[in-house]
Formats: sequence, C-alpha cells, structure tokens
Amino acid sequence: MTPQIQTASGATAPLVCRDRVEETADAATFVFTAADAAPIAYKAGQFIVFCVDVDGQKLHRAYSLSSTPSRPENLTITVKRVPGGQVSNHLLDHLRPGHALAALAPAGDFNVVDRPSTGHVVLLSAGCGITPCLSIARWLLDTSPATSIDFIHSARSGDDVIAAAELDRLHAAHANFRLTRVLEQPARASDRAGLLARPLFDQLLPDLHGRTIFCCGPQPYMDAVRAFADERGFDMGYFHCESFAATSAARAAQTSAGAGQSYTLSAPTFAKSGEIASTQSLLEALESAGLPIIGACRSGVCGSCKCRVVSGEVTTTSSATLSGEEIDSGYVLACSSTARSDLVVDL
Ligand SMILES: Cc1cc2nc3c(=O)[nH]c(=O)nc-3n(C[C@H](O)[C@H](O)[C@H](O)COP(=O)(O)OP(=O)(O)OC[C@H]3O[C@@H](n4cnc5c(N)ncnc54)[C@H](O)[C@@H]3O)c2cc1C
Ligand code: FES
Repeated sequence: MTPQIQTASGATAPLVCRDRVEETADAATFVFTAADAAPIAYKAGQFIVFCVDVDGQKLHRAYSLSSTPSRPENLTITVKRVPGGQVSNHLLDHLRPGHALAALAPAGDFNVVDRPSTGHVVLLSAGCGITPCLSIARWLLDTSPATSIDFIHSARSGDDVIAAAELDRLHAAHANFRLTRVLEQPARASDRAGLLARPLFDQLLPDLHGRTIFCCGPQPYMDAVRAFADERGFDMGYFHCESFAATSAARAAQTSAGAGQSYTLSAPTFAKSGEIASTQSLLEALESAGLPIIGACRSGVCGSCKCRVVSGEVTTTSSATLSGEEIDSGYVLACSSTARSDLVVDL
C-alpha cells in the first residue's frame, strides 16, 4: 500500500493550504501545514504527491517541495499551469487558503541526502524546475554554511522568474550563495542574456572540479546541461537531474521489436482481465481496465504504481524506488513496464 502522509505524531493527516502567493502570470506557490500542525519529515529536493478530486475523478500528481526540512512548520509547492492540464489548472483555479488536500508521503531520490554530494554545489534550473533546487539551496544554507552554492536559473523574462525576491534575498544574505539569472529577455544589468549555451556554461563554471550538479528543467535543457558537463570531463556520478515530464515506457516501446503485438492481462484479485498492447505501459493498461492503481509521476520516480507481475515477461525502464528484494519478488513500476507476453498481475 502506498504510504499516506505521516506526521511526526504518527497520524495520517491531510494537508491544509495556509497561503497562496502569485509568482508569475501562470504559476502560484501554495503553503501547507498538516491538519494537526505536526511536522512532516522529508529530504531537500523530494516531491509530494497530491490526490486531487477533479470533476469527481481522483487524480494524482507529483509536486516538488521548495521548502526546507530545516524549517518544518510549512511545506511549499509551486504549480505552473500546463495548457489543457487537468490538475495544474484545477489547483490554480480553485485552491485557496483553508482548503485541504490528501497527499502521499514525500518521496524521490533527487535529494541532497541520498545523492553523492560535495562541498561545492551547482544548482541549475529552468522555469518551474527551480522548485527542488530552491529546497536544496535553503536546506544547505541552513545546515551546511561551509557549502558553496552556484544557483544558475534560466527563464524567459524577469516576470517569469519564480521566487525572484527569495533568490535575491538569499544572494544578498549569504556570501556562499551566488545567483545568476539567464534570461531570454534580460531584466537587469546583472542578467545574462539568451539561453544557457556551452560558452556561457563554461564562463559561469570555469572550474567543475569537485562540484556536485543538481539540474531540473525541461528535458531539452537538462539534456544540454548534461552534455556540457560530460564534454568537460565532469565526473557524472555527481550529476543529478530530475524530470517533471512523464516519460512513458510505452513511448520507448513504440519503436522496439515486437511493437504492434497484443497480450492478455489479468488481475485475479479483482477478477478482471483485458488486453495490453506491446506499445502500452502496464499502468495505461491497468487504468483502462478500471483497476485501482495510482500513477502519480508516470515517469518511474515516485513508486506509487508499484505492482507485482505474478507471471509473464515485461520490459522495464525504471525500478528506481524498488528494493532488490522487491525486484526479485516480481515487483515492477507499472508506468515504466511494457508487456512481452501474457501477464498476470497482483495489485
Ligand atoms: C517528480 C516530479 C516533480 C514535479 N514537480 C512539479 C512542480 O514543482 N511544479 C509543477 O508545476 N509541476 C511539477 N510536476 C509536474 C506535475 O506533476 C504535473 O505533471 C503537471 O502539473 C501537469 O499536470 P496536469 O494534470 O495539469 O496535466 P495533465 O492533464 O496530466 O496533462 C495534460 C497535457 O500536458 C502534458 N504535460 C503534462 N505534464 C507536463 C509538464 N510538466 N510540462 C509540459 N507538458 C506537460 C501532457 O503530456 C498532456 O498532453 C512534477 C512532476 C514530477 C514527476
Ligand atoms: S507513477 Fe510514479 S513510479 Fe510509476
């Protein structure tokens, strides 16, 4: 069973929205506390999964926490509007102080505790990808004053910078926090103009030795940053990135051998069976069959879609949250698995 939010008192509690701050034309920050006001444990960089009722449908979505566990009284997330998106639009249009939301326990290995790190941290973010980087910066500034932080944030214009005042405040208050804004339309003299291309990357980070890079933003941005670091001979064991976009296992399967085949899928616990196409993720097939599975991130990072393949063969692109023991027992992440034969699944 997926863990619900556990407060320090051990109780399961919904989160109550206490404040809302408009960040940009299409993004707002929401401040939460547990309903019983007890602190919630998490690691800087992790995300939380909210269960949101949209027109009678329960939908799960992951949002990175931008707050720091060193100040556990509040949790903050920032939601950016996705055109046509069900949950982002619902939250931005309806969520107000006083409203409560169900949430799953914070999760994710893109965090400063579980990933190898050094005393020189480079936070590279673009757009809404700033959220986990802000959490990591806040945590390091509170708990590790000797750590040097280069925060390089990309956005379209000054008006599109999320948490702009907070970034300026951290820059002014901490000698070990250096902020660079890379804006397509620069707003002030210190902004660097354009996109983060290789010459600017080299100029801003002339020495990568001993650095740890945390990177979050749109996939093309992260691919470019990864390539810049790799080409410079950076130790990629210290390059950590997180994607907000669903990378469906099904998409990867579209081009693979066996595409176009279809198999039977059964879930005996629920006395249900159906079909699964080889180009479809196991999560998509279970959802189509009306089975109760939560697909919160749909990209193999949150673990909410864990299920057990009792018989049959799957191809899996991520087992990120599963222990060796679980993998040996047949557990898979449904969002990251496609069928290679008839399947029997236990939920
Ligand atoms: C680990 C993790 C952390 C995240 N943190 C944040 C965060 O801090 N702030 C935040 O705003 N979002 C974050 N997200 C994204 C968030 O979970 C939702 O995917 C996003 O809000 C869109 O959901 P939706 O229901 O509005 O769109 P959906 O109804 O799910 O999708 C509608 C359409 O938009 C496309 N789409 C879905 N998500 C995105 C996206 N992120 N960018 C562009 N197109 C998309 C879909 O392919 C689909 O075509 C995070 C995701 C993950 C996996
Ligand atoms: S939905 Fe998050 S790991 Fe599958």
